[in-house]
Amino acid sequence: MSEEHRPLFNNISVQEYASIADQYESTFQLLPYRTYVEQASVLNAIGDVTGLRVLDVACGTGYYSRLLRQRGASQVVGVDISPEMIQAAQKTEANAPLGLTYLVRDVGTMEVLGTFDLVVGVYLLHYATTGEHLDQICQCIAANLVSGGRFVTDTVNPTAARQPGYYEPYGMALYAHDDMVDGTEYSFAFTTTQGLISPLTIHYWTIARLEQALTTAGFIDIRWQPAVVSAEGIRELGQEYWARHEAAPFCIILSATKK
Ligand SMILES: C[S@@+](CC[C@H](N)C(=O)[O-])C[C@H]1O[C@@H](n2cnc3c(N)ncnc32)[C@H](O)[C@@H]1O
Repeated sequence: MSEEHRPLFNNISVQEYASIADQYESTFQLLPYRTYVEQASVLNAIGDVTGLRVLDVACGTGYYSRLLRQRGASQVVGVDISPEMIQAAQKTEANAPLGLTYLVRDVGTMEVLGTFDLVVGVYLLHYATTGEHLDQICQCIAANLVSGGRFVTDTVNPTAARQPGYYEPYGMALYAHDDMVDGTEYSFAFTTTQGLISPLTIHYWTIARLEQALTTAGFIDIRWQPAVVSAEGIRELGQEYWARHEAAPFCIILSATKK
């Protein structure tokens, strides 16, 4: 990584994702949660992307970048702090080109990369390591959006279940507790049938603190909704399978508009 784009904040997800980059993409195939709850909720919040210029922040291996391009986005740029995740995304692009561009960046320090109608970030804001980092992430995202453009993101629900093992049936482990305040470090892990993907460090942010960062960065019309299971997910696995999740959704989806 060049000096210019070295992370400003002490972000241990760079090392953590380096070690799981090759396993990460398999979570989409192995965990029905990712398709039937996360993806369905994110796509529903995004709506039609035909002709939109999209910036995918914390793009990881580029799963959503590819999906949005295939759904009609005119341009997609993906950025991620992990060189290994970006390498994996670039490898997929080289094997099956969709015209996507991937760059290694910390979203909290990235420059204006273009003119975008939509910024998407699936699992981003809980990687803000400090309040200052969170504020800068929101500001950098706003700087990349046209006026009236939207930011849609999926983040760990601040009111997700604290009970250990609660999300185990869905292949996720959340190590949350009752003493968390803004900035508290905690972790989550994917637990697939192929084993535990080592826990990833995240940070707790309340809705109030997230909204403060978004409003200060110039976002309006801030809307939250819990991630919900799609009709297809219910058909495939039954209502009972999803009941625990419906009672305490793992993630929430944010949609906000740049003033
Ligand atoms: C759970 S993965 C999600 C990847 C992708 N959005 C997806 O849903 O498949 C979280 C990603 O956030 C990236 N990340 C964490 N902090 C970041 C930051 N400050 N700037 C850019 N990327 C970051 C990690 O490297 C990792 O690839």
